[in-house]
Amino acid sequence: MKQQRILLLIGGGIAAYKCLDLIRRLREEGVSVRAVMTRAATQFITPLSVGALTNEKVFTDLFDLNDEQEIGHIRLSREADLLIVAPATADFLAKMAGGHADDLASTVLMAIDKPVLVAPAMNPRMWLHPATRRNVAQLEADGIRFVGPNTGEMAERNEAGPGRLAEVPEIIAAAKAILAKPATPLRSVRSKAPLAGRHVLVTSGPTHEPIDPVRYIANRSSGKQGHAIAAAAAALGARVTLVTGPVALPDPQGVDVVRVETAAEMLAAVTQGLPADVGVFAAAVADWRPAATPKEKIKKAKDETPAIALVENPDILAAIAKPGARRPSLVIGFAAETRDVVAYAKKKREAKGADWIAANDVSPKSGVFGGDANTVHLVTASGVEDWPKLTKDEVAERLMRRAAEFLKQSAAAAE
Ligand code: CTP
Repeated sequence: MKQQRILLLIGGGIAAYKCLDLIRRLREEGVSVRAVMTRAATQFITPLSVGALTNEKVFTDLFDLNDEQEIGHIRLSREADLLIVAPATADFLAKMAGGHADDLASTVLMAIDKPVLVAPAMNPRMWLHPATRRNVAQLEADGIRFVGPNTGEMAERNEAGPGRLAEVPEIIAAAKAILAKPATPLRSVRSKAPLAGRHVLVTSGPTHEPIDPVRYIANRSSGKQGHAIAAAAAALGARVTLVTGPVALPDPQGVDVVRVETAAEMLAAVTQGLPADVGVFAAAVADWRPAATPKEKIKKAKDETPAIALVENPDILAAIAKPGARRPSLVIGFAAETRDVVAYAKKKREAKGADWIAANDVSPKSGVFGGDANTVHLVTASGVEDWPKLTKDEVAERLMRRAAEFLKQSAAAAE
């Protein structure tokens, strides 16, 4: 990178302080660094310390007349081989995606014809927000390259998830890769989230089917597997809608949660959640519900045991897997079986119209219901994969990575 010129746009985030180290390391590599700071950035670190490290004037104001005469935004852009935005806040990404030019940093970006490397840093909820997902997808399409964000603890207490500024050596490695091969296609440089720009809809937990206002029919599903899938999809960059029956689990980070009780409510919420790229049906939906639900509690009567007549519930997976414009590109069902696991799963895949069935043994000896581990057989059109015994989190990540791969291949085949 020796003798190359980097223009560093410092955004207003708590991670701005890491830019001081970034500048030092870049200068050690023999790179000259010029810095532009947004107004918000100057609240986190001072232009004085930035200037001391760049050994150059620090630019902050679009309307600094001297600067405009001597070295305006066009020159700032021209005299750089690479522009790095760090930390890129949600607001700054939105401005970039929208083409705004209302301060020096955004104006420089609009004027640049050199590669741009963006290192985002923000709260995980902001990173996973649909607006940010949209903006990132737009910027990628425009040829902007990204490094990070990394997943981990946030500055805010008790917050974790994707949103940490990439580490300084990672930013430098990404910058080097771009400068070594300025024409490198975007995807080979950035660590793109595999499910970025995708919508994943997940059902989870049991359903409760009321017998009367105080009693219900339910099952032993804990919702752990479904919730883990929603969390894994979000961590891989997807927008996630989780439709869940009653469970005793916290909401996964960065996921839109819709709480329901009955199968009928679950079907309605899922239908409303469409369209989705991937539908994962991990809920243990009650197969039947009481035909009638009296408004008043059923009283115990002497010598009389009430008979509960049952009617079948809608099959949510089968309904959503039906061919049609709103069918997700990939429909994944689960098969909870107590014997002949794979044979039943194969039949279920065809009967319900799912693309994949993740089959598991839920016999009491397996400990799957309520437990943390799961042994899955993935049944697809092309065969059966026997996965080793994994934790439910591992099953979730493996399944969502497979889903991302599937979507990528389908997109490539459609081109
Ligand atoms: N499923 C569903 N709606 C239902 C029943 C099941 O969406 N009313 C979905 C489950 O979420 C799961 C798959 O269908 O992905 C298979 O569920 P499972 O309970 O194993 O199968 P059933 O259809 O109930 O068949 P059976 O109980 O006879 O094994």
